[in-house]
Amino acid sequence: MVNRRRTFLRHLSLILASVAGFLAFISLFRQVLPAGYRKDKRIKIGRPTSFPLNDFTYVSEHKLFVYRDHGGLRVVSAICTHLGCVIEKSDNGFQCPCHGSCFNEKGEVISGAAFKDLTWYRLYKDYDGQLVVDLDEAVDSDYILATN
Ligand code: FES
Repeated sequence: MVNRRRTFLRHLSLILASVAGFLAFISLFRQVLPAGYRKDKRIKIGRPTSFPLNDFTYVSEHKLFVYRDHGGLRVVSAICTHLGCVIEKSDNGFQCPCHGSCFNEKGEVISGAAFKDLTWYRLYKDYDGQLVVDLDEAVDSDYILATN
């Protein structure tokens, strides 16, 4: 009888440890996922005027580049379409430090390992004037949120 109880408790503790390990793994996995894969697909990135004119601004928290000019704003993913590294701005577009893919300023692949263009997202203004990026809605690279 005592042996059966010990066996039962041993099995129970093994199951509880497995469940705790699985939950810890899921939690860690969610932390390392790029922003685009997280549950909350609509993210606030600030007010339009917080982005300098005629330039791409990197929003590191969400791995996005925001471009603002007198016509409005656009937002493109900073996740390389090859294997998911974070791209960097280059003189004539974007470059991936991992395997050398290059993209022009429209996010189109011009060289390297990537086959797919960068993803542009719909942008809108919330009731409080903040910009919201909808990561569920990809748009063409010429999509622009007019600010005037
Ligand atoms: Fe960007 Fe491979 S992950 S080129």
